[in-house]
Amino acid sequence: MCETVSVNGTGRPAVPGFDAREGPAAEMTPLCRKDESGAFPGGGCTTEPGFARRVLPCNTAEAHRLPDMIKKGRMDMAKIAVLGAGGWGTALAVMADKYGHEVSLWSPFEEEVAMIRRHDEHKKLLPGIPVPPTIDVTGDLRCVSGADLLILAVPSFAVEETAVRLKPLVASRALIANAGKGLQEGTFKRFTQVIADALPDTRVVALSGPSHAEEVGRGVPTSVVSASTDTEAAEQVQELLMNPSLRIYVNTDVIGVELGGALKNVIALAAGICDGLDMGDNTKAALMTRGLAEMARLGVAMGAKADTFAGLAGMGDLIVTCGSMHSRNRRAGILIGQGTPPEQAVKQVGTVEGYLAAGVAWRLSQKMGVVMPITEQCYRVCYEGQPAKEAIKSLMGRPKRHESEIPWL
Ligand SMILES: NC(=O)c1ccc[n+]([C@@H]2O[C@H](COP(=O)([O-])OP(=O)(O)OC[C@H]3O[C@@H](n4cnc5c(N)ncnc54)[C@H](O)[C@@H]3O)[C@@H](O)[C@H]2O)c1
Repeated sequence: MCETVSVNGTGRPAVPGFDAREGPAAEMTPLCRKDESGAFPGGGCTTEPGFARRVLPCNTAEAHRLPDMIKKGRMDMAKIAVLGAGGWGTALAVMADKYGHEVSLWSPFEEEVAMIRRHDEHKKLLPGIPVPPTIDVTGDLRCVSGADLLILAVPSFAVEETAVRLKPLVASRALIANAGKGLQEGTFKRFTQVIADALPDTRVVALSGPSHAEEVGRGVPTSVVSASTDTEAAEQVQELLMNPSLRIYVNTDVIGVELGGALKNVIALAAGICDGLDMGDNTKAALMTRGLAEMARLGVAMGAKADTFAGLAGMGDLIVTCGSMHSRNRRAGILIGQGTPPEQAVKQVGTVEGYLAAGVAWRLSQKMGVVMPITEQCYRVCYEGQPAKEAIKSLMGRPKRHESEIPWL
């Protein structure tokens, strides 16, 4: 069967501010091109002229068999579109390019696209990691046409907006990996849910785990999780992205994996606050351990498996974020602990998902009736003017308990 995509017929749109929904009526452009004999070369699909650098089998039936096709040598590389050209998106694009894929890296900001192209690196968010000219850095969202895999690496506030913009551009059954971490404000939805709502006919996977962009960009051995209830989709992401420096495990507990990634940002912010207050290793160890317990408690209440929180997307990510200066959550926390007002600390550091997540997670815990003392204190420090030292006092002064009394399961 032929796939079709609709593209905005205006040519390359001006960015930022381009929204496919606002453009002239999208025209449906057939992706299939028959050769003279009436057959479909390359499996039946091609992409828009000017955007395709090769022909890929990307219709629905073929797309399902992508991993097998790679194994059988029918396809040595895939077309991957990375959306969001910040630290994480750029690192993933560099890695995919290094391992032979055809990669586009999209940003909604003209200045960001121009800056990466000018310097062949993201000077601001991933300095020192070359972005080779083989990567198509673009402000044109139509780079997703014909992609075998779309990776969303945009901040949490932009996930829904980006997914909606993709609606007229992605093929039916497209494979999408969300690499961002967070929960949607207001609805408490996980981002695979947000994306699936906006793009109902696609296959959405969560990519999460301990993975500093700065290290992935340098090829430092890293392990992450590809999670979906659609095992085949999660395995396809594993097959497409796994390489000698990125080991990917498949996990079907997508609730646990996504909540692990979102909630650990709050604990990392709290860990930074402890460091800013000059607390010791004991404090940090207690915070991480009890933090993991409350993450799992909320996760289990939401339908996740407790074990997932002991894995890469839970404990693994907590370890990497609570101890590293690469973590913007921790860096913002340090500033807060040293006395910088939270809002100012966040402005100074940039994308600090834990700040937003502290509010969302605290409200979600209230809604679910789950006790999350560290998240509560983090919320009070961030949004209610609670002094950081008072937050520690309050945590240390909680009623006596047995460790085993705290429900893990
Ligand atoms: N940086 C890391 O090491 C890392 C690792 C794993 C996961 N993550 C997650 O990935 C997500 C992105 O993080 P990051 O560190 O790359 O952030 P970042 O601030 O470095 O980059 C964000 C990028 O997203 C794009 N963007 C910004 N506003 C947008 C909008 N309104 N619409 C569409 N695109 C927009 C821009 O290209 C921008 O550069 C976050 O959820 C983060 O938690 C980050």
